[in-house]
Amino acid sequence: MTACFGQKSARPKRREQRPSRWRKQMSTAAVDLFEVSKSYNDRVVVDALSFTVSPGECFGLLGPNGAGKSTLARLILGVASPDAGKICVLGEPVPARARLARRGIGVVPQFDNLDLQLTVRENLLVFGRYFAMSAAEVKAVTPALLEFARLENKADARVAELSGGMKRRLTLARALINDPQLLVLDEPTTGLDPHGRHLIWERLRSLLARGKTILLTTHFMEEAERLCDRLCVLEHGRKIAEGRPHALIEQQIGCQVIEIYGGNPHELLPLVRPQVQRAEVSGETLFCYVTDPEQVRVRLAKRTDLRLLQRPPNLEDVFLRLTGREMKD
Ligand SMILES: Nc1ncnc2c1ncn2[C@@H]1O[C@H](COP(=O)(O)OP(=O)(O)OP(=O)(O)O)[C@@H](O)[C@H]1O
Ligand SMILES: [Mg+2]
Repeated sequence: MTACFGQKSARPKRREQRPSRWRKQMSTAAVDLFEVSKSYNDRVVVDALSFTVSPGECFGLLGPNGAGKSTLARLILGVASPDAGKICVLGEPVPARARLARRGIGVVPQFDNLDLQLTVRENLLVFGRYFAMSAAEVKAVTPALLEFARLENKADARVAELSGGMKRRLTLARALINDPQLLVLDEPTTGLDPHGRHLIWERLRSLLARGKTILLTTHFMEEAERLCDRLCVLEHGRKIAEGRPHALIEQQIGCQVIEIYGGNPHELLPLVRPQVQRAEVSGETLFCYVTDPEQVRVRLAKRTDLRLLQRPPNLEDVFLRLTGREMKD
């Protein structure tokens, strides 16, 4: 793999000044960001962000609406330029050599950009041309891509006639046409029903088993928990947490959760407060974080109007703890 800044045009003096972490990893990481910033209209949307994605890893980007996830995806693809910082993708400096890097990347944008007037098969053909594939090469991979997306029976249907979920599955299959090393997936399962989502999760796991690297943006915490090796949580373009899903759950929550419905959560809060480590009201639900759930149950034993749901902590608890329970954008 080419070293990002090992080109002849790189100025030796500047290379010397780069931090050692950057120098060491730049030739081996699938994606390496170092203090990357981006503003739109004087508003910082990516703020001095650094992270590294290793080959074969599934790395998740989480964050509220407007946190900067799609902007980051565009920066990594080299279709937007950073104001500051360094980006290296598949050994290539981006955006300087983004065209080269993109040869090894498959992309699922947040919003489908299929050609509605063409058939499924024709969409694959047109997309294959971007990667300089011949018609015969596209034809050879089409059956496997249709099978991947479970669209075998829709090969000759116009995309305009497909359901939203089918279009999403086609976009994902299309991203694999060039057999990419790295997949950049921006909310790939948004709009899919539970069957479609489980199908995609199974497909993504099989791609990971084949050694592919995935950068995944999602609002589905279950998806992040199931698929991602590591996560980066963003807020206002800044990294507010990074780590393995279960380590984050343990660090940030680390106890059982009881959700209480059926009463006025603000009135219940003082009742349970002495028994809980932390309590939060969200809408009509009271969330209690507890090391001894039995104490809360005893405390509320006479309140037969209430429903108590006890469960282990999950990534959604982490997300809400880190980013708050109010809407952000
Ligand atoms: N081309 C642009 N011009 C101006 N502002 C932009 C542009 N692209 C993004 N933004 C702003 O940057 C911020 C981050 O947007 P971005 O789409 O990256 O968020 P996101 O985390 O992907 O959100 P979501 O979860 O809703 O998809 C938002 O405030 C958005 O309005
Ligand atoms: Mg987005």
